Amino acid sequence: MKIKADDKEFELYIPSEELHQRIQEIGQQLSQQFKEEKPLLLGILNGSFMFMADISRTLDFELEIEFVKLSSYSGDSSTGQVSHEISLKKSVEGRTIIIVEDIIDTGLTIYNFIETLKSKNPKTVYLVALLSKPVAHQFPIHIDLVGFEIPNEFVVGYGLDYNGFGRNYDAIYKVC
Ligand code: IMP
Repeated sequence: MKIKADDKEFELYIPSEELHQRIQEIGQQLSQQFKEEKPLLLGILNGSFMFMADISRTLDFELEIEFVKLSSYSGDSSTGQVSHEISLKKSVEGRTIIIVEDIIDTGLTIYNFIETLKSKNPKTVYLVALLSKPVAHQFPIHIDLVGFEIPNEFVVGYGLDYNGFGRNYDAIYKVC
């Protein structure tokens, strides 16, 4: 099945069932590890909104949810700079923070954000990413939990966009 997002066509890459199966597994792992910690789940907008909605519904213990908005992408490539368009108002001091990210590409966005976060003295920063492109990583990041490792290809769907389009699909599509 193919979809169109702005001026490009994309083909089905990770079907909905596979995505949701993996999200359940991630949820189980987070539950085992963090159910006594009252963690703060911190989503990176815009791309993580769908992943956050689904992963948080697999967790039935006390937690908080917040979002920050960072951006480094324009079209289908990284600009090399990270802007904080909505910054974190909540105190993270002494808290267990679980960052919920859609995709790690070069790692610039998350590396930069984690450095900022660590300067605010959280107890732990744990990074969960639905997708990661290991070949594209250029920064010294450690991803604690990855949904799927994918090749260096541009993908949309399930929160991820191309020029703002394609976020609404319940599956991951790769560029044709
Ligand atoms: P990084 O800073 O290079 O790791 O890029 C991370 C951000 O770029 C992600 O949060 C996405 O918003 C965007 N991005 C990277 N790769 C893709 C992709 O394949 N599709 C859609 N967005 C992407």
